[in-house]
Amino acid sequence: MTYAIDAIRRDIPALADVVYMNYGTEGVMAESVLAPYIEMLSRFERYGHFERMKIADEMTRCHETVALLVKCRVEEVAITRNGTDGVSMVLGSFPFREGDELLIGGEEHPAIVYPAFALQRHRGVRVRRFAFHDDPAQTLAAFASALTPRTRVVAFSHVSCETGKRTPARAIVAAAQARGARVLVDGAQTIGWMDVDFPALGADYLTGSAHKWLCGPKGSGILIVHRDRLDELVPAYVGGGSFGVDFPWTRLDRPEEIHAEWAAGATRFEYGMRNPALYAGLRLAIDHMSGIGWDEIRRHQRRITDALKARLAAIPGVRVQTPADFDASSPILNFAVDGISGRDLSQRLWNEHRVVQRAVREPMGVRLSNGYCTSTDDHDRLVAAIEAIRRVPVPA
Ligand SMILES: Cc1ncc(COP(=O)(O)O)c(C=O)c1O
Repeated sequence: MTYAIDAIRRDIPALADVVYMNYGTEGVMAESVLAPYIEMLSRFERYGHFERMKIADEMTRCHETVALLVKCRVEEVAITRNGTDGVSMVLGSFPFREGDELLIGGEEHPAIVYPAFALQRHRGVRVRRFAFHDDPAQTLAAFASALTPRTRVVAFSHVSCETGKRTPARAIVAAAQARGARVLVDGAQTIGWMDVDFPALGADYLTGSAHKWLCGPKGSGILIVHRDRLDELVPAYVGGGSFGVDFPWTRLDRPEEIHAEWAAGATRFEYGMRNPALYAGLRLAIDHMSGIGWDEIRRHQRRITDALKARLAAIPGVRVQTPADFDASSPILNFAVDGISGRDLSQRLWNEHRVVQRAVREPMGVRLSNGYCTSTDDHDRLVAAIEAIRRVPVPA
C-alpha cells in the first residue's frame, strides 16, 4: 500500500509554511484532531462544570486507548502533564534508602538527570551512569559493568534525545531485574513511532510525552506502572483522586483509625482537577495515527530517515552523528556542519530557512526528527538550506 503522505500533510496546514522537523520536542497536531479537541476544550472553558461532566468519559476512553497503544492493562495507565512528570513521580515516590544506587543512562534528558540529582543531594542516593554507544551490544556491556548489588533503580532512555541512539532496552531491563533492581524506561523518544510493548519490554515503569511523536495536546504525558509495582511506590504528591472515594477526613486527628486505600490503579497519580478535553485530544491523536496505520507509519519513518542520512552524509563538511543502522537508532538524526556551532546552525536554519529543529550541545550539532508526516519535499528544502548556509558560513 502506498503511504498517503499528501493527504496526511494536507491535514497539517503549517507544513506548507515551514519545514517541521522537531517531533522530538513537540509535534504538530492534525486539523482533524485539533477541531474536535478545541470544540471540547471550548465547551468546558465557556461553560465550566457541567460541560466537563459531559466529557468526563473521555478520561476513561483515553486510558483505554493508551493501554492499547503500549499493550498494557488499563489500570496501569496514568495520564500526566508531560514526560518529566512521570519520571519525577516514580523517582520521587520510590522508597529509596540512604546509600542506594540509582543507575542512569549516559545521554539523559534533564527529566532523569534533575530528579537523580535531587535524590543525590537530599536523600543520600548515589547516582551512577552508563555510557550509550552506537553499538547496542556495547551499551549493554557498559550497563552490565555499572550495575552493582546496591543498584535499586535503573532509569534510562529508550532512545537518546541527543543522538537518536537506540538502547537495548529489553536486555537492560532483564539484566537489571535479575539483580533485583526496578527499571524505568523513558519512552519520550519512542512512544508515538516505535512499537513500544510494555509487557514485552518487561519494565516496571514506562514514561513518555504525548505532545511529541504522538502529536497530542501540548502538556500531556503518559506514565505506565506495572500493576505489581503500584503499591510499592509511596506517591510523593497526592490530592483529590489519590484515595478511594470514602476517605474519612473527619478522623484526621486519629490517623491510626484511617484505613484509606489508594485509588485503584495508576490513576492514583492523577490527583486534583484534570481537563478531560486534554484526554480527548490525546485519544483523538492516537486514533488518528492508528487510522493511518502504525506499520505504514513506521515503514515511512524508516525509509525517509535512511534516505536523509545518505543525503546529508554526501554533503562535504557535514557529519551525521547518529548510527547509520536504523535498528540501532530512530527517526532522530543529529548532524553537524564543519565550522558552525550547533546553536548558530539551528538559529540560521530557522531564521533564514524556516526549518524547525533543535540544537544539541553534546555531541554539538542539530537534531532533526522525521515524523509521520515528514516528506521528501521537506528534505529537499532542508538540504538546500544547509547548502546555502555552508556557502555563507558567517551571515553578512
Ligand atoms: C528522552 C527524554 N525524556 C524526557 C523528556 C521530557 O519530556 P517532557 O518535555 O514531555 O517533559 C524529553 C524531552 O525532550 C526527552 O527527550
